[in-house]
Amino acid sequence: MTLGFDLARFEALLCLRSCTLGRPLTIVDVTPSTNDLALEAAHRGARHGATFVADAQTRGRGRQGRTWLANPGESLLCSVLLRPRIALERAPLLPLAVGLAARSVVNGALAGQDSGLVQLKWPNDVLVRRKKICGVLVESQVRGGGLVAAVVGVGLNVRCRDFPAELAAHATSLALLDASELDREPLLVELLAAIEHYLSGLETAPAAMIEELRRHDALLGCPVDVDGTIGVGCGIDPDGRLLVTDDQGKRHSLASGHVQVLDDGAI
Ligand code: BTN
Repeated sequence: MTLGFDLARFEALLCLRSCTLGRPLTIVDVTPSTNDLALEAAHRGARHGATFVADAQTRGRGRQGRTWLANPGESLLCSVLLRPRIALERAPLLPLAVGLAARSVVNGALAGQDSGLVQLKWPNDVLVRRKKICGVLVESQVRGGGLVAAVVGVGLNVRCRDFPAELAAHATSLALLDASELDREPLLVELLAAIEHYLSGLETAPAAMIEELRRHDALLGCPVDVDGTIGVGCGIDPDGRLLVTDDQGKRHSLASGHVQVLDDGAI
């Protein structure tokens, strides 16, 4: 029994978008983590596009071992199994591509509002007015030097209006932003279509994707601390690494890490 996910509506919308992701769709009321469902399915040989949605997670996880909390039914909690046709060297670009996809969904749901407000905090947090609305966790399976599968987990704050005290200043939701769309079915379809679009961009034209990332870079010009590397965000390189210039003028290119913004504390 799920909190009213309308499968028929989802299927109809998916057809309209001619999206190949989203099938088969598994919907559960509660699970430890939709990423676990997708990873298990990947091990069993499930197909590209298999998608898992939950009303609630008991052990939702974020990047770098953090916990991902969400009240039942208030968020879009989903994981998509991808079998990307990309060389392993390009795999680090995948989380960025999914971040762009999530950004475009948020931007679409806030249609009519200033699109410049919807930004990406490298590598893939979606921010609106410097507050986090969506997180992405990509977990990959590599075998024999190749990328066998990638599970893309997305947590989008949809109807949440109250956040735990420690998050309240840094988090927002579509409902708090008066978004035009709050239903999970169309949001999921838009997300799947956007993931498909950006995945194909990654396969065929990664430079254009990096260019788009740069246009939405929330860290550009911001003082940051990335696991002890302190400086100012100065862009994203062609391999998707974050560029940080320190006070000696030295440029660091970072492949991973937790970014803390030092000026406003909001992100
Ligand atoms: C982050 O911001 O650190 C990433 C958060 C990703 C959360 C989503 S919710 C659906 C999927 N299942 C999980 O356990 N995590 C991802």
